[in-house]
Amino acid sequence: MKFFIDTANLEQIKEAQALGILDGVTTNPSLMAKEGISGNDNVMNHYKTICEIVDGDVSAEVIATDYQGMIEEGEYLASLHPQIVVKIPMIKDGIKAIKYFSSKGIKTNCTLVFSSGQALLAAKAGATYVSPFIGRLDDISTEGMRLIEDIRLIYDNYAYDTQILAASVRHTMHIIQCAEVGADVMTGPLSAILGLLKHPLTDNGLAQFLADHAKVNS
Ligand code: E4P
Repeated sequence: MKFFIDTANLEQIKEAQALGILDGVTTNPSLMAKEGISGNDNVMNHYKTICEIVDGDVSAEVIATDYQGMIEEGEYLASLHPQIVVKIPMIKDGIKAIKYFSSKGIKTNCTLVFSSGQALLAAKAGATYVSPFIGRLDDISTEGMRLIEDIRLIYDNYAYDTQILAASVRHTMHIIQCAEVGADVMTGPLSAILGLLKHPLTDNGLAQFLADHAKVNS
């Protein structure tokens, strides 16, 4: 499973990259706003900076919601850097735009996906990635992980190439469950990724090893 980090924070992206396990980055307009990145030039420069930090795909979301606007914005975003993936919302014009970009060989990430029917449409349009939002489904008392399982089944039935990018991952257990049900990619916060490192028996065991070593080597 690929690991993407879901942030526009450069320090966190650098920390995940330095760990050597990072495969890409996802951003969205809310994450850009959280970092105080505003104005077209600043936003575009921020995407380029992220691409220079990481080796993998970097999702950059269009703001337009009409077909022509999404095409113009997406083509511009794609021209910024070869690692840019154009993130398109799951709406009718979005599906048309995904089909267009797919025919041009431009990578897309279909975002704001909350049902397997939406994921089926995204795959048929040729999306590179589909982003089902697990955490937001959990927030409304629906089992987000079940959606990943349902999409996995549908995509495997027809050998669709679209990769399931489990998004809105909120905590470490989400990452483990994504791997169990066969998500191709998960995108989550740095805290959830670092949570995978933790186990009290590892900490206790290491402390004991070091203490025993010190006893006979001091
Ligand atoms: C997906 O790419 C989105 O950026 C993101 O995962 C949304 O997560 P949230 O529900 O925690 O805002």
